[in-house]
Amino acid sequence: MSSFLEGKYHLKRDPFPTNVATAKDPMVGRDKEYAAWQRIIKRCKGETANSLNFIIGDYGLGKTLALYKIQEYVLEDAKMQSIFMRLLPEDKISRFGQMFIQRIFSRIDFSKLRFAKAAVKTLEEVLPDEALVMRKAAEGDPLAIQLLRGEGSLNKAEMASLGVRKKIGSTEAAIRYWLSYLILLKSVGIDTVVLLIDEVEYLFSQMKGLAGVSMVFNTLRELHDLSNMPQPVSLPASNVVFFFAVSDDGWRNINMIQKKERSQGGPMNAFLRRISPPTTLKRLTQEEALQLIQLRLSEQRTGPKPSKPLIPFTDSFVAFIYELSAGVPHLVVSYCHEILRKGLEENVPMLTKDYAKKVLREVGLYVES
Ligand SMILES: Nc1ncnc2c1ncn2[C@@H]1O[C@H](COP(=O)(O)OP(=O)(O)OP(=O)(O)O)[C@@H](O)[C@H]1O
Ligand SMILES: [Mg+2]
Repeated sequence: MSSFLEGKYHLKRDPFPTNVATAKDPMVGRDKEYAAWQRIIKRCKGETANSLNFIIGDYGLGKTLALYKIQEYVLEDAKMQSIFMRLLPEDKISRFGQMFIQRIFSRIDFSKLRFAKAAVKTLEEVLPDEALVMRKAAEGDPLAIQLLRGEGSLNKAEMASLGVRKKIGSTEAAIRYWLSYLILLKSVGIDTVVLLIDEVEYLFSQMKGLAGVSMVFNTLRELHDLSNMPQPVSLPASNVVFFFAVSDDGWRNINMIQKKERSQGGPMNAFLRRISPPTTLKRLTQEEALQLIQLRLSEQRTGPKPSKPLIPFTDSFVAFIYELSAGVPHLVVSYCHEILRKGLEENVPMLTKDYAKKVLREVGLYVES
């Protein structure tokens, strides 16, 4: 099978193995959006104020991929830290802030951080427990890391050996730890944390009435405003740039809640007043879909370059796939994968429009009108 793939398709492997974004996937047709995201980050880097940004897109339009590309950009800069996370359906609305911050801590490799001794000392004077746990976490103490992440419960003896009295048991407590983290991070020269939060719409599948969701956005607003509040310590802290990826449905829900609240002025209004103009991901043009396919193919080429960049696909194949996908990249990738797989199985040298129709009809993805 692999020899047919190499011999006839000139490919090392299937360039469309999954239709869920991976960090390595190429991104096409988002130059303007990407430039805007870069501008936001550049503008915020090293500032004190936090920033809230939304990326809105229908299912499969490339929200996760966009977050990965932002992350890649942030990783190039040693003065910034990026943290990628999802909001999952099992996330509890009650104590959302605590869960949210502990989940951030789960994504941080504390052992890589060498917090400045002087900063730890100054912090200790006002937030002794927080400073101690942070210092120990950076020294690789598993109990400190466990406490920060809320993984399992520390028993009395473990708490005593760690040297703190209280676990993180509320959003308020978690925010104190988060603030301590941002202060110590600044002390090691990291100016800005870029938080990439995927699948915000899952909040709504958990929705137990408006009150729960409002609480969540109230907490997010609180985290945003943290940089503006008078702090217990006069030490500078890293600021935070939030990027939230949300489906169209999720965004509609957010706006619906805002409208409902309008008369009373609830937390969603307060939250939305703080966000930057959102980016909405559009469907790909045919040219962009063609680019997507060609780029993916070119990354998996083997041996001498084939005579045509689209091999094993034909031009009419791409036009057909594009039409069927309506420009949704997720579908372009799915169709290419499905047809390529079948072509390999059946030893079909060229994948044409007619062959695509046949394969997709068989799996119920295409119905002749
Ligand atoms: N602009 C793009 N250029 C090239 N490929 C893209 C683009 N956008 C998305 N893709 C590809 O389409 C597929 C779906 O993308 P992704 O998972 O980012 O979509 P999503 O909006 O997060 O979807 P979901 O709503 O299901 O979470 C991936 O294989 C991804 O590489
Ligand atoms: Mg996604």
